[in-house]
Amino acid sequence: MTENPLETAPQYEPAAPTIVGVDAAIVIFGASGDLTSRKLLPALYSLWHDRYLADHSPIIGCARRAKTDEEFRNEMRQAVEAHGRRGSTTGEDWQRFAARLFYRQLDLSQPDGYPEFARQLEQIEAACGVANKRLFYMATTPDLFVPTIDAVSRVGLVPDRPSTAWLRVVFEKPFGNDLKSAQELSRELGRLLREDQIYRIDHYLGKETVQNILLFRFGNAIFEPLFNRTHVDHVQICVAESQGMESGRGGYYDKSGALRDVLQNHVLQLLALVAMEPPSFFRAKDILDEKLKVLEALAPGDASDVSRWAVRGQYTGATIAGAAVRGYREEDRVPPDSNCETYAAVDVRVDNWRWAGVPFYLRTGKRLPRRVSEIAIQFKLPPLHLFKTVECEGDICELVGARPNTLRFRIQPSESISLSFSTKQPGMQYQIHPVAMDFAYESQFSLALPEAYERLLLDVLRGDSTLFMRNDELEAAWRFLDPVLDAWGRDDRGPDLYAAGTWGPRSADTLLRRQGRAWQAP
Ligand code: BG6
Repeated sequence: MTENPLETAPQYEPAAPTIVGVDAAIVIFGASGDLTSRKLLPALYSLWHDRYLADHSPIIGCARRAKTDEEFRNEMRQAVEAHGRRGSTTGEDWQRFAARLFYRQLDLSQPDGYPEFARQLEQIEAACGVANKRLFYMATTPDLFVPTIDAVSRVGLVPDRPSTAWLRVVFEKPFGNDLKSAQELSRELGRLLREDQIYRIDHYLGKETVQNILLFRFGNAIFEPLFNRTHVDHVQICVAESQGMESGRGGYYDKSGALRDVLQNHVLQLLALVAMEPPSFFRAKDILDEKLKVLEALAPGDASDVSRWAVRGQYTGATIAGAAVRGYREEDRVPPDSNCETYAAVDVRVDNWRWAGVPFYLRTGKRLPRRVSEIAIQFKLPPLHLFKTVECEGDICELVGARPNTLRFRIQPSESISLSFSTKQPGMQYQIHPVAMDFAYESQFSLALPEAYERLLLDVLRGDSTLFMRNDELEAAWRFLDPVLDAWGRDDRGPDLYAAGTWGPRSADTLLRRQGRAWQAP
């Protein structure tokens, strides 16, 4: 019997690459927040541990509270233990890493404190042997973006022209609340920084499986010819979360909502990657230009009747697996009469030659049955229905034809790509049986996937902006969603309700049913 070469192929083990650790001073503004302990420090420790970050690069936490270096190191040790992927913090490694951690007290809203901060930063850099290479991470609320950059610029920390000295500033969302505020923010930042100094982070782009969308599409010849209106019936993109409001988050979320928090950025970025044209070169500018064209081609539906193409929902309390779960309006820091949406679904069209007429159904929400992010590309049915099969549910049987082929990118969890197709059920008749070809990361690669923030921080250190959002992309995304935000803001009927632990409001099902389609169970 011949062996199946795929079954006997060894698991992929990458050759150890030659790594040159990047050296720079990394300053985290707003270092007392959750982001620093849950994401940034664990990611920086992994990068350092894997030698991507040079041994002598200092990391300086900066926030309003008074704290010693020692206290900061202890807090960060606990953070890495709780959230880190690499290495333990009990041995010598951690001691070596921790020696590069510093804390400086600074009230970011007070310009008076910055000259002293600049002096201290230069002192630390000189002691560590790093000069003129700086990454500033804005882990702050957006109202501090401009005042902080203005102040660091006044104390001479922003190099004014491209040179061997560099400063790269990473901004966390939200980048505005709508098109107007995003444009204002961008104008103000543009006064202080050049576009090549600005890195707008969308952590979805750092996920391994999201990057694989580009490789899958443009590194294989057989799929790309099918990605268009001739072959694709529709596309569904789902970012579902089972959690509600994490402690203390209600205050931020209530001003944002599902549309601004996830759909405007993560979901539209996924759409752009699935729908974009192949770039001529795999370079930041070429890729971002192609993504931009997709975002600019997004066609809003009728502004006078937004409910025909966009639906909002809010979860109510329910019992899930025997435990009582609070409704959104009962969450901490959420007003009891809040109309904020915790679920959003939009039917989007990409008005370009490739995709004209193909619906892209997008949905995201909190307190849905599962945490799952997935893109499903459903292809058209064969032109003739030559085969049928009998399918029974209980006593009721019916004759059904082939199911459409679906290509699924599972972004998380259990990262995978699968293609469903029909086969002949063994027997004396031509009966259809649906099967799937699956590629699962965990069975193919014996590596733990890197965390999104690791990849993105390393890209900033290397000056590669491919996986960051450009200003024009951001504005195109807001321009598309502004009519929805306007309509929802004016409509005091509020969101449609759904019970926590279900797949969103009924109106979302109706949205697709009207077009003869249904949401796919991820
Ligand atoms: C963040 C949102 O950007 O993404 C959160 O602000 C959301 O509300 C999170 O929970 C989802 O990210 P992930 O990586 O857990 O899917």
